[in-house]
Amino acid sequence: MKKLYRGKILNPISASECEFFADGGILVDENGRIESYGKFEKLNKGEDIEVQDFSEDLIIPAFSDVHTHLPQYDVRGKFSGNDLLPWLRNYIWPEEIKFASSDYAKKVARRFFDDLIQHGTLTAGIFGTIHVNAAREMFNECNIRAIIGKAMMDQNSPAELTENTQDSLEGVDDLCEEFGQKHAITPRFAMTCSNELMCGGAALANKYGAIIQTHLSENYEVIDMTSKLFPNAENYTDIYLKAGLLGPKTIVAHAIHCSDEEFDVLKKTGTKIAHCPTSNIALNSGRMPVEKVFNKGIEFALATDVGAGPKTSMLDVMRGFLEAHAGIDACEYVVNEVSALYYATLAGAKILGFGAETGNFKEGKSADFLVLKTNFKSAKPKEIIHNLCYDIDYSSVVQKTVFRGEVIYEG
Ligand code: GUN
Ligand code: ZN
Repeated sequence: MKKLYRGKILNPISASECEFFADGGILVDENGRIESYGKFEKLNKGEDIEVQDFSEDLIIPAFSDVHTHLPQYDVRGKFSGNDLLPWLRNYIWPEEIKFASSDYAKKVARRFFDDLIQHGTLTAGIFGTIHVNAAREMFNECNIRAIIGKAMMDQNSPAELTENTQDSLEGVDDLCEEFGQKHAITPRFAMTCSNELMCGGAALANKYGAIIQTHLSENYEVIDMTSKLFPNAENYTDIYLKAGLLGPKTIVAHAIHCSDEEFDVLKKTGTKIAHCPTSNIALNSGRMPVEKVFNKGIEFALATDVGAGPKTSMLDVMRGFLEAHAGIDACEYVVNEVSALYYATLAGAKILGFGAETGNFKEGKSADFLVLKTNFKSAKPKEIIHNLCYDIDYSSVVQKTVFRGEVIYEG
């Protein structure tokens, strides 16, 4: 039997366009695909349709979080106010060391994915730790659309998190064999990776057609230390370029302090940016010049960067996006409620390679959406989204999470 979900529907199309149906519907076929969507009255035809009535509620596509760290789930937001390196040394490395235990990894992974589903995130780009078996547990527990990467680290890390270069590459090779393109090549950041490790990672990405994910230009201290470690590179971005890590299937998180030349390299190579405003605020990292990134035509999407980002909810990241760039004139056309919803949904799905399958409502796409409780004060998409970001307790707003046409969570 087909199901017709009735509600007020927001459908992000681009950074500047969002469809709105005050009395809308999404018709889902027996295979969990969107047969059609639009005005309810036009869709409510035929006998083999079961209507699910959420007329008072809002229906939006499920969220995409393009950069998050599963192993940091239990310490998320706990140490805000520290800068990146002391935060990593004092709080994050000790937590990640615990993932040598597969059992520990499995338990955290289970709670992490439950939490994502409760907050409406059904597409994600996920960092693991260096541990191959922990990555396996993460894949086993994963019940959303995700790419997951075992982190690669062979220098400037605590002993327990420092791999032998060849062992690291072999571990990644094994995971790529096992999980195909769902396994992402994940050199953590240049500081903790030798050139040999990064070049080896790039070769594996080519071999398997895998996505590459890493961090770039997050704060000045790291930029200084990195330039000393790689004296032959022109700048931070050039380290990755020379190692063969940049390209259309690469996602770099942050890119806050890149020069014009570096942004031009990202554009030229087709590299994507994960923009993490709540993390950038928490670690005092600075403001990513989103207007420059937009004007240069570099693709980006929003991300939590848990655990630097304190919350798993993409609504919190959308709020952070609006606030991080508020008052900067040149930003208004790039940063607003309509663009925030796009960058938290379809933009992320596209970057992770799932754009044809999910991210918004379109005939033939998977029915991946959220029914949200909200108090409507307006029929304007901008105001509705604003209320969602500010008025509501993120953990209780999601009434239903629907994945491939099945209700997988009810709040
Ligand atoms: N740079 C290298 N590792 C990390 C991490 O775990 N979080 C953040 N925010 N930046 C990083
Ligand atoms: Zn990160």
